[in-house]
Amino acid sequence: MAAQVFPLDHTGRSLREDIAALQSLGPAVKVALPDGITAWSVTKHEQLKKLSEDGRLSRDAQQHWPGLPDVPEGWPLAPFLISPTVLNAYGSERHRLRKIMEEAFTPARLDVLRENLRHRVPRLLGSLGAPGSLVDIRAEYAQVIACETLCDLFGVPQAQWPDAVAAMRNLLSPAEEADQASAQLESAMSYLGALLSGKRDLPGEDMATTLAQADMTDEERVLALAVTIAGGVPATTELITNAACNMLRHPEQLAAVRSGETTWSAVVEETLRFDAPVQHMPLRYAVEDIDLGEGTVIRQGDPVLMGFGAGGRDPQAHGDTADVFDVHRPNKEHVAFGHGVHYCIGASLGRIEASVALQALFASFPHMELAEPDQGLRPLPTFLFNGKAQLPVRL
Ligand code: HEM
Repeated sequence: MAAQVFPLDHTGRSLREDIAALQSLGPAVKVALPDGITAWSVTKHEQLKKLSEDGRLSRDAQQHWPGLPDVPEGWPLAPFLISPTVLNAYGSERHRLRKIMEEAFTPARLDVLRENLRHRVPRLLGSLGAPGSLVDIRAEYAQVIACETLCDLFGVPQAQWPDAVAAMRNLLSPAEEADQASAQLESAMSYLGALLSGKRDLPGEDMATTLAQADMTDEERVLALAVTIAGGVPATTELITNAACNMLRHPEQLAAVRSGETTWSAVVEETLRFDAPVQHMPLRYAVEDIDLGEGTVIRQGDPVLMGFGAGGRDPQAHGDTADVFDVHRPNKEHVAFGHGVHYCIGASLGRIEASVALQALFASFPHMELAEPDQGLRPLPTFLFNGKAQLPVRL
């Protein structure tokens, strides 16, 4: 009998409803991706952990997805599929690329990035506006912190930060028109290439230098920076935005943070559990048949979509209150950063950015409130990310 195919809503508007339905249907459920391509969706916390540790799932579409040649040109999930980066590599290739990337995220470097961010944030807060002004915290605060922290991580000279941020924006939000989009991509890649070349003459304690000195090709170096931007900027922007929104919606929980009864890092963890920025992570492929029990077998070559954001809302992990934002809950376990060999390389940095950003924002604007009930809080128009198009507040 053909497996039932769940009609996943790709606009992101029914994310919660879809996930609740998928969690009730079994350990993995076939869903329809854009253009009718099907994949197994995994949304249960324990199953997400188990499969992320399972060496029979690969991220390498070229080696392990027989359906790759049928993917239509311009498929919306295509950017996740075939670049030679840590994201898609399998086996010893993945290990080699991951080891190089990890050298850029040592505890000592993270300490420097935290201190630099602490020093930068007051200037940024000062430029947001006077108390009472109407400001979109997502665009003018969260995203700026996410981009500028990557400038610092990469070792971009301070005077070039506006150019680097422009390159990041070109990479992340290309124009709809194809020629313009490819010109933007080319310009972003050539910016990153020039940054790496500059580090050969003038090395520093930064990620671009680490990559410039590593045993890898020039293409791998540029793409390692690009995948860091794609992994780091949107997710961190949504984490800060979602956490700020949750605090503004729950003033009694904000008061508990202010009084020292709980901490900003608890707010960040509960936001990751309840409001994970990355809801679905495309794609993994079964290297051989995987029997999940309950009559569900993922066949060799089948694609798998990991619903990491759903894990934190799984009633089997968090009981009847899984859908309630509660900074006081003792168990905030989640898989919002993924799990296993592809576990988010920037998890510690993302947590640092969010804690520093939130603490400073709420200290500077003690009377901040949502601008209008739900004004501008439309969900992002995608099932991959969970966030708001804007977070308009009155400072
Ligand atoms: C702050 C919120 C963030 C969230 C919620 C998040 C979430 C994720 C998730 C779900 C994955 C996929 C893991 C998997 O497939 O098992 C991932 C991978 C990745 N993330 Fe993050 N991320 C965040 C921040 C960052 C930052 C700040 C950076 C870089 C500075 C970053 C860089 C990456 C990279 C390079 C990967 C690919 C790792 C691999 O495949 O080995 N992320 N992230």
